[in-house]
Amino acid sequence: SEQPLAPTPPMGWNSWNMFGSTIHEDSVRATADVLVSSGLKDCGYNYVVIDDCWSTKVGRDGNGDLVADPEKFPSGIKALADYVHSLGLKIGIYSDAAHLTCASYPGSFGFEEQDAQLWASWGIDFLKYDFCFAPTDQATAIDRYTRMGEALRKTKRQFLYSLCEWGGRSPQLWGRSVGGHMWRVTGDIFDSWVDIWVAPHKYYGVGIDTAIDIAANLAEYAGPDAWNDLDMLVVGLKGKGQISGGGLSFIEYQTHMSLWTIACSPLMIGCDIRNMDRDTTSLLTNREVLAVNQDSLGIAGRRVKQTGTCEIWKKPLADGSLAVALINRGSIGSDLSLRASDIGLLDTPKSVRNLWAQADIAEFGEAWQTRIQPHETLLLKIKA
Ligand code: DGJ
Repeated sequence: SEQPLAPTPPMGWNSWNMFGSTIHEDSVRATADVLVSSGLKDCGYNYVVIDDCWSTKVGRDGNGDLVADPEKFPSGIKALADYVHSLGLKIGIYSDAAHLTCASYPGSFGFEEQDAQLWASWGIDFLKYDFCFAPTDQATAIDRYTRMGEALRKTKRQFLYSLCEWGGRSPQLWGRSVGGHMWRVTGDIFDSWVDIWVAPHKYYGVGIDTAIDIAANLAEYAGPDAWNDLDMLVVGLKGKGQISGGGLSFIEYQTHMSLWTIACSPLMIGCDIRNMDRDTTSLLTNREVLAVNQDSLGIAGRRVKQTGTCEIWKKPLADGSLAVALINRGSIGSDLSLRASDIGLLDTPKSVRNLWAQADIAEFGEAWQTRIQPHETLLLKIKA
């Protein structure tokens, strides 16, 4: 049988958050170059995903094939795929399980096999499949995602299949059986701590604080080749791009990254990596943090305790240790005392490491007292 495509949560970059409809092959190539030159590829970020708005809006050609917009992709997607592959990276594309995509480009409903064959002929490795304009019931979602899943399999090319119905129809219950490797469990995450009303589209953009509660209830559904997708990362956007909520502080971006890490969400970068500052680079490339997300056991972290505005999450790791997140969701600093028993340990741990700081914590004792800043997360690795 086939090798698992996503034994650990997929990592990469997606065009939507930053570029939206202004996507262009030049920015995709430059982004692929920077994935390599910045070391992001070496950290595991290996998918380059072209989201909505890549095709012509008028529709299909005389053969019924989707056509890449010649203004945005003058060299064609096949050439772009070849280039991305030449860098040792993989390439993803996007469509929708209805007649139109969310941005009103042609969708794939009724054309599943034809589109899958076309993408396979271009060398595409990943499909993100959206759900705008589709009937909103669960049975239709299962049916439409099954159709595309089968069409992808028929091509004989391996596609990582990313389901994007935003969690409303419980995709964690059926995503695996339609061939999905990851499924969105949230609406669009915005560059904001709190949810924000997006008036023109009449929906709430999801803030990081809400994502914490969503992720808390889904750990049991995740595992190798089956990941709860909390949506693309907003790290580094700082108010720019399609999903601006004004931006987060460094501490809030770190909490966002910590949650995606411990919840085993895919890590798809959404910012313009051609212009990353040091803070953004440090948040995206901390190897000790990434090792928690990419741990080979593939067990998603779960919330084990809530106390005041703080909460404690834990995730078992393959070497027998635990990753532990201490999150303060409140707007004022808070003292927290972490006991071994809070995380299921009988004794004082042998060692505790602060992963963001990459520093050992010497004095743990019976109960470790620490202060957590507003919206801050401490990410620890604890050896029993
Ligand atoms: C909705 C999805 O949730 C987003 O991630 C993005 O793909 C847009 N659609 C594109 O229109």
